[in-house]
Amino acid sequence: MNSLKPIFDEKKPQVYIETYGCQMNVNDSEVILSVLQSNGYALTEDMNKADVILANTCSIRENAEQRIWGRIEQFRLQKKRNPAIVIGIVGCMAERLKDKLLEKVDLVAGPDSYRNIARMIADVRPDSPQINVLLSRDETYSDISPVRLDKNGVSAYISIMRGCNNACSYCVVPYTRGAERSRDPHSIVREAEELFANGYKEVNLLGQNVDSYLWKSAEGNVNFAGLLEMVSAVSPELRVRFSTSHPKDISDEVLMTMAAHENICRHIHLPVQSGSSTMLEKMRRKYDREWYLERVAKIREIMPDCGLSTDVIAGFSGETEEDHQDTLSLFREVCFDSAFMFQYSERPGTLASKKYPDDIAPEVKTARLNEIIELQTRMSLESNRRNIGETFKVLVEGPSKRNESDLCGRAGNNKMCVFPSAVQERMEAGLEPLKPGDYVTVKVIDCTSATLLCQQIF
Ligand code: SAH
Ligand code: SF4
Ligand code: F3S
Repeated sequence: MNSLKPIFDEKKPQVYIETYGCQMNVNDSEVILSVLQSNGYALTEDMNKADVILANTCSIRENAEQRIWGRIEQFRLQKKRNPAIVIGIVGCMAERLKDKLLEKVDLVAGPDSYRNIARMIADVRPDSPQINVLLSRDETYSDISPVRLDKNGVSAYISIMRGCNNACSYCVVPYTRGAERSRDPHSIVREAEELFANGYKEVNLLGQNVDSYLWKSAEGNVNFAGLLEMVSAVSPELRVRFSTSHPKDISDEVLMTMAAHENICRHIHLPVQSGSSTMLEKMRRKYDREWYLERVAKIREIMPDCGLSTDVIAGFSGETEEDHQDTLSLFREVCFDSAFMFQYSERPGTLASKKYPDDIAPEVKTARLNEIIELQTRMSLESNRRNIGETFKVLVEGPSKRNESDLCGRAGNNKMCVFPSAVQERMEAGLEPLKPGDYVTVKVIDCTSATLLCQQIF
């Protein structure tokens, strides 16, 4: 049986891991650590003590990769001081750049090679670096219990599928992560049960497109709605979240399943990418503006209180001022709670890089992005203001970053709530102080664009 928590033991060979990119990568680092711990390694948070330095990398935008090249130089300085250490680049950038990285580091391991990573590290010699960038059709690491790297012990990630079968023209993920494959639902439920038994109160089900989750077996198929049902049955005290939903695939069945189970959080991350149907077509998203708005209307019809967030790209190939205005108007119309907003970054090898010129001037991209950010900040504030006076059930994560005597945690709709710990008042009411993993009801008193400022109700 694997340990759920990292082992810190300076007598063992020390591994240091930096993680970049999406939640999927965070979870992959947890799988890597699990494999390494089973092979006698222990974790260190101090690079200077490491025998093995790994960076789990991201290729989604050019600046993500630039950052890593800078880090590699720092790792190499470390290796100059101590030639015995092994430097490895793993993840999406390893997959994309392959041999080019081998000139700089000792180990290059793609996202489907982690099962053998201990062997690869052991085989590194000064004149023989190791590389494995084969992508798999069926690897899901379903039998490996990730070693949890979260600090709070409350909320954990579970990968339910890997890869992506879509072909969004701007996106590198299908090339770095390969074809989509779903993981055995029983192994997912087992992992959720194990987490709950160890005090976790929230699981985040991860996939590039969770709505296309499909497990086929002789006992019958399980789709994403079915999987949600199974995981939500682990315990009413265990919250279930998921991302990412794809607008073309999110089904009414999923929405009805969410509505029917109180412990499935009412929050959907539904990346729109653009408000212009012309851009969406060129992006190969397989839906248009009207379809997206219809899905949002359906979500709000079935769950009026559902949180909604999105991703958007400014300045994709050929984007006109009118297309950009379409994005702004969609943002106004939907009023997202929050958004991840990016400038288009051309990725080598993608369909867009071959077919559509990266022809929007950098200053225009930046100006459009800033306009979107400015609008979204106002919309976030508006969305938060609407919650003033409402009550929410919050899962306590720990002390607030700003003020140690305050606590923070998320409401079901994914908004961050901050509130006084009220230890004295609780004591007077005969209640224990709150700790991470407790549920508490709060009332919203005030807000910023990022946070709901609340008070406990007891
Ligand atoms: N599977 C998810 C997204 C994964 S990547 C989905 O389909 O929605 C996360 C986000 O990065 C994307 O939603 C997109 O907004 C952004 N992104 C992807 N490729 C990009 C690129 N080439 N330039 C800028 N942003 C990009
Ligand atoms: Fe990329 Fe599109 Fe797949 Fe998301 S759905 S990972 S944007 S190809
Ligand atoms: Fe994630 Fe970046 Fe890879 S967003 S899937 S780590 S390219």
